[in-house]
Amino acid sequence: MANKIKVGILGATGMVGQKYIQLLQNHPFFELTSLFASPKSAGKSYLEALNSRWQMTTPIPENLQNLIVKDVFDLQNLNLDLVFSCLDLDKNSILELEDRYAKAGVVVVSNNSANRSTGDVPMIIPEINHSHLDLIAIQKKQRGYKKGFIVVKPNCSIQSYLLPIFALINSGFEVQKILVTTMQAISGAGYPGVSGLDLIDNLIPFIAGEEEKTEQEPLKILGTIENEKLVLKSNLQISASCNRVPVIDGHSASVSLLFGEKKPTAEQILEIWQNFAGLPQELNLPLAPIQPIIYKTEENRPQPRKDRDLDKAMSVVVGRLRKCSVLDYKFTGLSHNTVRGAAGGGLLIAEMLFKLGYLKTSANQESN
Ligand SMILES: NC(=O)c1ccc[n+]([C@@H]2O[C@H](COP(=O)([O-])OP(=O)(O)OC[C@H]3O[C@@H](n4cnc5c(N)ncnc54)[C@H](OP(=O)(O)O)[C@@H]3O)[C@@H](O)[C@H]2O)c1
Repeated sequence: MANKIKVGILGATGMVGQKYIQLLQNHPFFELTSLFASPKSAGKSYLEALNSRWQMTTPIPENLQNLIVKDVFDLQNLNLDLVFSCLDLDKNSILELEDRYAKAGVVVVSNNSANRSTGDVPMIIPEINHSHLDLIAIQKKQRGYKKGFIVVKPNCSIQSYLLPIFALINSGFEVQKILVTTMQAISGAGYPGVSGLDLIDNLIPFIAGEEEKTEQEPLKILGTIENEKLVLKSNLQISASCNRVPVIDGHSASVSLLFGEKKPTAEQILEIWQNFAGLPQELNLPLAPIQPIIYKTEENRPQPRKDRDLDKAMSVVVGRLRKCSVLDYKFTGLSHNTVRGAAGGGLLIAEMLFKLGYLKTSANQESN
């Protein structure tokens, strides 16, 4: 592509930032030109700023090793079309910073939780609610943004089960109650994250703020836009218990569902999952998994180490579908938390924004 979209990463030294760097190598639409981190990393080469924190299993790209890291709070001379925002920073600072970037004419795709409950900011899982991108025009009008806007990606743990549930709802089977117990990987806490002494030979039955996000975010994702406002899904109750487990990558979830009056058979559920595809597959986006929901028939799957990397680590892997003696059905879900749940999910949103014409190179813009 002659004019690629110029991209920066806010939080390039962190766990999610590193995954973005890995996924953006040789990307057909995007060219990574700027790396941002905290003021203490600013002015250093990327290699120096990392200070041995690189966690990926592929080498640090050579063309980035000597690139000077910029201060994320310094927005002078940006020359960017898009930033991926993945910062370990308090909510108010993130709200202010993402607004500043959007005002400066840059599209922000955010992995941070700060803007997830903001009414005019769409929270997107591309296979589920691309129609919420209609909020972008409303957001731009309300805030006076010209070229920039903000889109967020939801919490990493809900990725492992919301897509299979959406596929059932979308096929006409209303879901009324969800009981979910998550088993979340260490990399979900960033680097250095949870101490080895706390987690080896152990399980921590608490992740700050996670149960609230797990119970609330699906209601926004499954909501509808009415009269220029996003209305949360009603008649759906979710109860979540979130645990940190000694797995490096891959969040798992044990899920029980109660359907409305119309209840599917197990065969229907499997067929719906097998045949499910969304807009990313239709648009043939580079990072879209060919099969977004993969069902493993073995009785002891999905397992994080064996199944998290399926189809570019972007598929949601499910298994163990069976009758629930309290609700209707139960199953186990798994997704790669730093790929589908973080950088891959953000990149898939950006690819969709590009293909749908929301993102244009500066060369194709009339003005900011
Ligand atoms: N890890 C996951 O699986 C995952 C999944 C979904 C969402 N998220 C979210 O993504 C965000 C980043 O997570 P992470 O796991 O990548 O965290 P991380 O490894 O701790 O990285 C944090 C990044 O934020 C920067 N930073 C830290 N303090 C800062 C400050 N005071 N001012 C400006 N920048 C600062 C760091 O730069 P320096 O190196 O200069 O300190 C680093 O680049 C968080 O909001 C997290 O909740 C993470």
